[in-house]
Amino acid sequence: MTREEAEALDAADPLRPCRDRFVLPDGLIYLDGNSLGAMPKAALARQRDAVAREWGASLIRSWNDHDWIGAPQRIGARIAPLIGARPHEVIVADSVSVNLFKLLTAALAMSPDRPVLLSERGNFHTDLHVAGGVADIVPGIRLETVAREAIPDALGADTNLLLLTHVHYKSGARFDMASLTARASAAGALTLWDLSHSVGAVPLNLNRDGVQLAVGCGYKYLNGGPGAPAFLYVAEHLQERLLPYLRGWMGHAAPFAFTDDYVPAPGISRFLVGTPPMLSLLALETGVESFEGVDMAAVWTKSVALFDLFAALIDQRCAGHGLECITPRDPEQRGSHISYRHPHAFELCQALIAADVIGDFRAPDVIRFGLTPLYLGFDDIRRAVDRLAAILESGSWRDPKFSVRGKVT
Ligand SMILES: Cc1ncc(COP(=O)(O)O)c(C=O)c1O
Repeated sequence: MTREEAEALDAADPLRPCRDRFVLPDGLIYLDGNSLGAMPKAALARQRDAVAREWGASLIRSWNDHDWIGAPQRIGARIAPLIGARPHEVIVADSVSVNLFKLLTAALAMSPDRPVLLSERGNFHTDLHVAGGVADIVPGIRLETVAREAIPDALGADTNLLLLTHVHYKSGARFDMASLTARASAAGALTLWDLSHSVGAVPLNLNRDGVQLAVGCGYKYLNGGPGAPAFLYVAEHLQERLLPYLRGWMGHAAPFAFTDDYVPAPGISRFLVGTPPMLSLLALETGVESFEGVDMAAVWTKSVALFDLFAALIDQRCAGHGLECITPRDPEQRGSHISYRHPHAFELCQALIAADVIGDFRAPDVIRFGLTPLYLGFDDIRRAVDRLAAILESGSWRDPKFSVRGKVT
């Protein structure tokens, strides 16, 4: 593909104006928005205002005067349309890991006669670590993991809850949410979906698909900033039946009554725990606002086109260099990143970063490229593959400096 052809695709792209909503350093091709989303331009002014005016001048009055206290529900309601949920079914709080703990402990207790917490072998490790810890403390529960293909048949009368990540963090493979949720429901089990690599990337309709529980990440495709709070979703019909075990005052029916007795807040608010990190919440709100006026179907259409271009260019330009695409080519079976296995994935990733193309490495041998339709263009893809092809052809990745590992890889 020539530069002119790629630029023509960018000129015809209905999402092209969204790129101006983000700070994108000159010359950098950022293919890691599935790990840390780009910074919305509006974030700087919003944070300045939040620090100087709301914190600095209004001080504690801001909990009421600037509705800090309502932020977890307000921002949850803004995430709801992106996942096909009702506004009161989503709340922003804590991290994905902590939200998993909160929902798992509450949900597993509903069916004490069903011992199995089922998940995928090779699921994101935080999900498995939290699930393992929960199984250790909830009486009678054991964690079982099976290969992804074996999940439907592993569901049975002993399954309490099915915990799955919708889009796999490494391969990008996507589960069929509707059919697995239905299958689990038919077996009498609840399903909890981790939407960390789906929200803001693929169209979701939790209500239509009968999803009971979900969690998701704020700092990836939602562009909420480093360590942004996460969200959790509980279907309306379950909200009053779930009793949290991680009980904090913010999830109490009357936090400012300061009573010794625990009374859960009505609805989803019972899943709040402690005081929300307000500056981070407001940064997340700016990130969610970067989707304003954007149709998720258009985001997905562009994601598919970016992926197809990336895959085709790698096939053409990098053949014979040992890159093996591990992401399903069928759009229905994938998310919005593309991953390749390579014996020197780490070094390739470092050489690409040195060439101003930022992707990431996932141990032991995967290089991952996030395709974020709001701020990536077709010419970015063309240029990124050009640089990767040059690195492979020249063998420049063999330079020993590219095998030095940092704390974060
Ligand atoms: C699928 C998945 N779940 C959870 C997390 C981490 O969530 P948190 O750091 O908010 O606990 C990640 C982070 O990359 C992830 O990919």
